[in-house]
Amino acid sequence: FLLEASNNGGGVFKLAEKEEPHIKRSDFPPGFLFGAASSAYQVEGAYLEDGKSLSNWDVFCHSVGCGENGENGDIADDHYHQFLEDIEMMGSLGLKAYRFSISWARILPRGRFGEVNRAGIMFYNKIIDNLILKGIEPFVTLYHGDFPQELEERYGSWLNSEMKEDFVHMAEICFKSFGDRVKYWITINEPNLVTEYAYETGIFPPSRCSEPFGNCLAGNSDVEPLVVMHNMLLAHGMTAKLYREKFQHKQGGSIGITLHCFMFEPLTDSELDRSAAKRAFAFNIGWPLDPLIFGDYPKEMHEYLGSELPSFSLDEKNFLKNGIDFIGINHYTTAYTKDCTNSSCSPTANRAIRGFLDLVGERDGVLIGERTAIEGIYVVPRGMEEIVNCIKIRYNNKPMIITENGYSSPNVHEDRIHELVNDVKRVEFHTAYLACLAKSIRGGADVRGYLVWSLMDNYEWLQGYKVRFGLHYIDRKTLTRIPKLSARWYKNFLTNNSDLI
Ligand code: NOJ
Repeated sequence: FLLEASNNGGGVFKLAEKEEPHIKRSDFPPGFLFGAASSAYQVEGAYLEDGKSLSNWDVFCHSVGCGENGENGDIADDHYHQFLEDIEMMGSLGLKAYRFSISWARILPRGRFGEVNRAGIMFYNKIIDNLILKGIEPFVTLYHGDFPQELEERYGSWLNSEMKEDFVHMAEICFKSFGDRVKYWITINEPNLVTEYAYETGIFPPSRCSEPFGNCLAGNSDVEPLVVMHNMLLAHGMTAKLYREKFQHKQGGSIGITLHCFMFEPLTDSELDRSAAKRAFAFNIGWPLDPLIFGDYPKEMHEYLGSELPSFSLDEKNFLKNGIDFIGINHYTTAYTKDCTNSSCSPTANRAIRGFLDLVGERDGVLIGERTAIEGIYVVPRGMEEIVNCIKIRYNNKPMIITENGYSSPNVHEDRIHELVNDVKRVEFHTAYLACLAKSIRGGADVRGYLVWSLMDNYEWLQGYKVRFGLHYIDRKTLTRIPKLSARWYKNFLTNNSDLI
């Protein structure tokens, strides 16, 4: 495919001929970590092998059928069996970092109510050892959406404060087992999105919602997402405290959290829309980050939610404060923000828990950026510089790592494999977003790394396998990995300091 691609004139050479943006590895600091990211349920497969128990996602996808045609992560990319080849692939691209997540049900099939599964620990030991052999820094996410189903059935998982105990128990086992070699820990992936999808719109397990949405029947209170976030933040805080007291000084690593970070621009220049955009930041990003840096929720949330917002005790505030060493940023897109306090919005947007604001993709009939495969996600490279700068200013330039950034091409059927593999648009996407990231770094932002989502196409939750973010295409029948043009570009960028494909 690559051979054909390089003969494919127009598309391929277009990038190199373009005046802007030009971006090279040398535009970033020498120690800057470039890599790729993934998560357990999306790539591992082997859903019941070697002692792993069923996770909440296994059960959810088996019962309701997740992706189109009931696709699920039972096999996913078969990374459980092919991890050595995959690490080989990372090495040959020149990656210096790889972010993956631990399948909680693989290492603790019954949470804290049962034994550690040695086979699970061995699997991650092999991954970590092989990454290090190739000079690739492991970034470990402790929780990326999947946990043992037993924790849901026993006590309702994150709705119950017991979940914190399970989380800390799992984290401690990871610090003990892997902490001699893992220097970057991410406790929770995108708590600000999971709370919304699992407890507000109900499209993710355990499918709880306050407003009817899709297959989710309304009936739960609007407060649930707030309670779930509260428990997650306390779980993070307890884990970070444990890490710092018992492990960090010996192991010398760092601990952070990863958030779903849209950039929010005001829809119009009105004062109302401008303050709605500020509110959007507070209700989405400040919600988890303010407590972990300043010790409490943003003032805007207190103002709009009053006593519905759970409160932290003085002691909790103290251990939450300064509870992260770095901020993990998953950034894909920018949205226009529309105020709902003074203009009409849909009832789903116009609620206290959403901050009485709506996020829209167009202004005066013009889209904010090119569409991607996911509704509401547009290509808006300037958002990368803007979001990094907003976070830098609000949080005193705390170290940041772009833990995810990636592109999924819209509506490409797998029959059009040439198009999928000759992914010029993905190269343009990364080039443009990186150029904007480099600008923010030149402006003083302390960004330490950039991880592409994703090394290879994988299981994209409700969208299944038809939404592809990978640098490698996966033939779903043979599970063969086929490098896309973007893989060749990344390799050239990383190993030859070149911007040619
Ligand atoms: C964020 C999530 O962490 C990841 O699981 C997902 O696949 C990507 N975004 C792309 O949507």
